[in-house]
Amino acid sequence: MRIGKKRIGESMLLRAAAVALLGAASTLAAQAQETVKVGLILPMTGGQASTGKQIDNAIKLYMKQHGDSVAGKKIEIILKDDAAVPDNTKRFAQELIVNDKVAVIAGFGITPAALAAAPLATQAKVPEIVMAAGTSIITEKSPYIVRTSFTLPQSSSIIGDWAAKNGIKKVATLTSDYAPGNDALASFKEHFTAGGGQIVEEIKVPLANPDFAPFLQRMKDAKPDAMFVFVPAGQGGNFMKQFAERGLDKSGIKVIGPGDVMDDDLLNGMGDTAIGAVTAHIYSAAHPSQMNKDFVAAYKKEFGSRPGFMAVGGYDGIHLLYEAIKKTGGKVDGDSLIAAMKGMAWESPRGPISIDPETRDIVQNVYIRKVEKVDGELYNMEFETFKDVKDPGKTKK
Ligand code: PHB
Repeated sequence: MRIGKKRIGESMLLRAAAVALLGAASTLAAQAQETVKVGLILPMTGGQASTGKQIDNAIKLYMKQHGDSVAGKKIEIILKDDAAVPDNTKRFAQELIVNDKVAVIAGFGITPAALAAAPLATQAKVPEIVMAAGTSIITEKSPYIVRTSFTLPQSSSIIGDWAAKNGIKKVATLTSDYAPGNDALASFKEHFTAGGGQIVEEIKVPLANPDFAPFLQRMKDAKPDAMFVFVPAGQGGNFMKQFAERGLDKSGIKVIGPGDVMDDDLLNGMGDTAIGAVTAHIYSAAHPSQMNKDFVAAYKKEFGSRPGFMAVGGYDGIHLLYEAIKKTGGKVDGDSLIAAMKGMAWESPRGPISIDPETRDIVQNVYIRKVEKVDGELYNMEFETFKDVKDPGKTKK
């Protein structure tokens, strides 16, 4: 009897333990399901590290301001440093999708990195949010790509028209020798020459560790009214330093271009050489909206530096994901998320933006700005606005 009672007691205990274990396991499973993983692939080291840092910072700031949960899902960011090497990007994207089961891949500091991940996004039906890279063609490489950065033709076409209309007759071009540089050059040339301008010198510099000095003498000798410059985020400081060292700042040659060369992140370090540079771009730290004032103040408080245009690409990219998850009521399969993102419109620190439902590319204002000193600091001061600009590189095809 005693033995029997003990057996019964034991089996009841065992059953209770099993039930408890099952309960715990299912709670764990539920919790695991509630987490939405985001694979963030960025250059945190190497020549493009300033891009990675800005985007990572901006996402951290957004999540601090808005919390790390949305529509009952906890958002977990898994950051990988690809050092802007496309083979790394591809390997990380694969690992994140297959092993970590991320719902979304995001980031992509340069065009070759964004392109390297595109086939994986398509195969796995995982959205790829491009927060930095700017070559037109990127969004055409997968139906799962959405972009929150910009395209080079958005800004280069506008500065091309502006230059022709504002007394600039001869331009020498200096562009980084890869896809976005070629996009920038082609659309600038098309618009500037259509307005009567002439290209007197065309120079392409390598993407990695460019030494501008040997080319700057040729630029000076060509005696243009202005120099059209595209270098990717992170390189403008070095470019302007060599520009001054070679005496081009005293030659009367104006710097014009898309705004990448005058990244707010580096602008103060360039010194007075930068004053007067006119660029067309999608973001200035001096954009006069209340939302931007708050964004710049919060970013500075958190990280001790000024946000640049790459930071807004990250801030808006994570906002797009949060809003899409809200809209799907927590469904995070690729097709539901992409459908939710198409056509979404909101106010960004850069101004009003939306996602073109046809192309999944960003539609945004482009501003013409001039570098000025305000209260002892250099800023890109916006003086003309082109509203709701779609990527001209795409509408032509
Ligand atoms: C790009 O590689 O697409 C890229 C990178 C940095 C920029 C612009 C474009 O500032």
